Amino acid sequence: MKPIELKNGIYWVGAIDWSIRDFHGYETPRGTTYNNYLILDNEITLVDTVKHDFSDITIENIRAIVDPAKIKHIVINHIENDHVTSIDKIMALCPDATIHISAKGEKGLARFYDLSKWKIRIVKSGDTLTIGKRTLLFLETPMLHWPDSMMTYIKEEKLLISQDGFGQHIASASRFDDDYTTCQSVSELEDAITDYYANILMPFGHIIKNKIADIQKLGLEIDMIAPDHGIIFRRDPGKVLNMYMDMANGKSDLSVSIIYDTMWHSTEQMTTPLMRGICDEGVGCKVIKLRATPQSIAVKEFWKSRGVLIGTPTLNNIMFPSVANFLTYLRGLRPKNRIAGAFGSFGWGGGAVKEAYEILKKIGLETYEPGLEVLYRPSADDTSRCYDYGVAFAKKVKEYHKNFA
Ligand code: FEO
Repeated sequence: MKPIELKNGIYWVGAIDWSIRDFHGYETPRGTTYNNYLILDNEITLVDTVKHDFSDITIENIRAIVDPAKIKHIVINHIENDHVTSIDKIMALCPDATIHISAKGEKGLARFYDLSKWKIRIVKSGDTLTIGKRTLLFLETPMLHWPDSMMTYIKEEKLLISQDGFGQHIASASRFDDDYTTCQSVSELEDAITDYYANILMPFGHIIKNKIADIQKLGLEIDMIAPDHGIIFRRDPGKVLNMYMDMANGKSDLSVSIIYDTMWHSTEQMTTPLMRGICDEGVGCKVIKLRATPQSIAVKEFWKSRGVLIGTPTLNNIMFPSVANFLTYLRGLRPKNRIAGAFGSFGWGGGAVKEAYEILKKIGLETYEPGLEVLYRPSADDTSRCYDYGVAFAKKVKEYHKNFA
């Protein structure tokens, strides 16, 4: 892939990772990209690097435009491995370049590299770097999504290089939101934005709201948002900002995700009447079997819905392992503004549904109780109970959803 010019003299010099499917445990069925940007000005500047496996590719891309030895500044917006682990190879080519990084970024980077050999400038929000006709403004965005994270804004270009913020895991041959050789539809791009938010940024909704408000207060004009993963927004950058504000404010569909696993299909058999009851109440519903669905996709579906029903059989008096695993992952994401119930089958002692509620409460979700349990196999009466539970849960979800109108 050759460099792509985003603005006059500003190039994408990143790499496309078509084959990655497991991004530190997060399923990436569309692959991803590692975006970084080269700015030609009096003082040539590189914003961000790429994952080490792709260091030769970004160097080749830089070389196609300019001799890397001429780079004067490197901005490191974030020190996670997918963005910083080619820094040593790049610095070997431009050893006199100055690295601009947040204080926490520098502290973290020092755990991976010997920084004594490099020129480092610690920057904070509001600091600038004039490189010629352009001035870069640094905006710290701590915990979006690491303590070191920051963004870089170029006023003369109305360009926000947003690091992980507004990213999406999409590998594509083209770079922009107005090029649908990349995403087959607007909805595919929106799905990828939602997926990324749900799995990476969900815990930080309150910070996102504040940071977007800060940007608005600064009156920064933005006509392009260039994240470090996926598609660059130039057609309508306001749309992704609004999507983020909506998600941070708890927006969801009026729908329920039934997320379950099953041993001998009894818990699974409960899902169909539950779904019918929910749908008959006019609420959307998706049924997601955990062993058939990557966890990160189950989280995205959870996030899109106002309600969730967790289904688990009892195994050795506790939850089925795949369900426990899912709830552990969900707990770390600290979801808010969702209502949850639980159901499942058991043979003698039971215990899984009770344990599911304990975790749902620890997560801090609103819970709908009691749960619904079936002995061994759903009978005709049990099937009716499941349907009625679906109706009642959907009613509760509709009522709860009004809080977010
Ligand atoms: Fe794309 Fe937080 O790294």
